[in-house]
Amino acid sequence: MTDLEVRHLSKTFGATRALDDVGFSVAAGQIHGLLGGNGSGKSTLIKILAGVHTADPGGEFRIGGETVPADATTPALARRCGLRFVHQSRSTFPELTLAENIAIGDRFPTSAGRVRWAQLRKRTAALLERFEIDADPRDRLGDLRPADQTMVAIARALQDAQGAGSVLVLDEPTASLPEHEVAVLLDALRRYARAGQTILYVSHRIDEVLDITDAMTVLRDGRHVITRSTQGMTEAELIEHIVGRPVERVFAETTGEHAAAGEPLLEVTGLSGGPLRGVDLTVRSGEIVGIAGLLGTGRTELLRMIFGDLPRTAGTIRLGGTAVQPRNPGQAMKLGIAHVPEDREHEAAYLDLSVRENLSAAEITKYWVGGRLRRPPERRDADRAIADFAIRTSGQDALMSSLSGGNQQKVVLARWLRREPRLLLLDEPTQGVDVGARADVYAAIRGAVSGGMAALVVSSDFDELAHACDRVLVLRDGRITAEVRGAELHRQRLTELVFTKENTP
Ligand SMILES: Nc1ncnc2c1ncn2[C@@H]1O[C@H](COP(=O)(O)OP(=O)(O)OP(=O)(O)O)[C@@H](O)[C@H]1O
Ligand SMILES: [Mg+2]
Repeated sequence: MTDLEVRHLSKTFGATRALDDVGFSVAAGQIHGLLGGNGSGKSTLIKILAGVHTADPGGEFRIGGETVPADATTPALARRCGLRFVHQSRSTFPELTLAENIAIGDRFPTSAGRVRWAQLRKRTAALLERFEIDADPRDRLGDLRPADQTMVAIARALQDAQGAGSVLVLDEPTASLPEHEVAVLLDALRRYARAGQTILYVSHRIDEVLDITDAMTVLRDGRHVITRSTQGMTEAELIEHIVGRPVERVFAETTGEHAAAGEPLLEVTGLSGGPLRGVDLTVRSGEIVGIAGLLGTGRTELLRMIFGDLPRTAGTIRLGGTAVQPRNPGQAMKLGIAHVPEDREHEAAYLDLSVRENLSAAEITKYWVGGRLRRPPERRDADRAIADFAIRTSGQDALMSSLSGGNQQKVVLARWLRREPRLLLLDEPTQGVDVGARADVYAAIRGAVSGGMAALVVSSDFDELAHACDRVLVLRDGRITAEVRGAELHRQRLTELVFTKENTP
């Protein structure tokens, strides 16, 4: 039985053809993957389903027995047809209780103008039970583990949907979840599908898609490539569909034998504060060092503390042999430290400026000579960055907001690498970057460190850490508990070290 069918869907933004005559169907009760490289049109398709964008005339979709012209979608219509969305920014409220999160947006039960809390709690408890979330309606959402928070967002989206007949659309739900939390969420999604829930699932994580989906659709450059059952699909074949050419390995086998590391560039001793309890680490110039750890162990805080963005209670930081005490990011930047935060959309991308302005933002003074902005070099550098990072855009004058999520990410990274910092702190640098471009991102980082810089990288993707880093430090309970390098440096070993208690010295 088909639950959702998309036909002849096209969408043009100015000169960009984001979707070109795309059609596929999603069977009821299945988990259907929607895959494709950065800028291939996934989010655009979802936004059309959601009624956020309207498609070009001619397309349509069929859902719940209704045929909807794709140039006439509205959020209300999408709801009525049974489409439910959980976007990557979950739009839930960590400070509020679960009951309040479930009810927000007009769903508070009231009588005589007063909220009936007991009724709301009862309703929430029933919903939590239905979605098998082990929590109390009075718990604060922010206190739940990350996978459970996503499940609450799903429960919220589906609370008034009629079970079978509704389609849940998830746009990269696992992008910011650490490995273990991913497993918890995927288990939950499997249970929901077994209970008859149809799910359209967008993700860049190949193994996860092969693991969880029943069928999949791949888009490339706005065009439909294939829709088929997941059974029998290999990783290599799937990557080839996404990238458009065979890819031997995502990361070239040059890893493992890098140029010899130089002098210690960053030396951290006894760093404490927040979740950190005495972190010692050294990064040499020419090195890419990874940090593996669970969410909440202080990975993000470690980078921010070195960047002067979070206060520390103890510890010393030496940069190039000299003790430094950056008290704020401005001071850290003057010392030659760059930091690319995890939440790029909110912290690092200027959506209303052009791609060129975003690329120049960190070094604009370079182009001001004698009180005049030197456009030609700025334009030349921008074109080079767009080529180096394979940024998909109509040109450097395009607005940042017109780029797909993964391409915005590449712009932000390119901006920081162009500053030629001494030390680069990267938090989840490939989050949302497609499988074809991940290696490009690391190649750019590798190129930068081979010039004498050093990089400290946090990633939830242990496979990526193992392939792209010279060595990886395991952060547990606020301290570095292991260092892995050479033949030992592979995903399984990192997973073991991060999860197994006995490894704590
Ligand atoms: N508002 C917009 N204005 C102009 N162009 C846009 C707009 N939104 C998307 N595009 C373009 O449409 C194409 C498809 O973008 P889309 O966001 O759908 O990609 P995606 O598959 O979701 O990629 P990613 O994996 O990076 O999130 C891209 O070339 C993008 O630049
Ligand atoms: Mg997208």
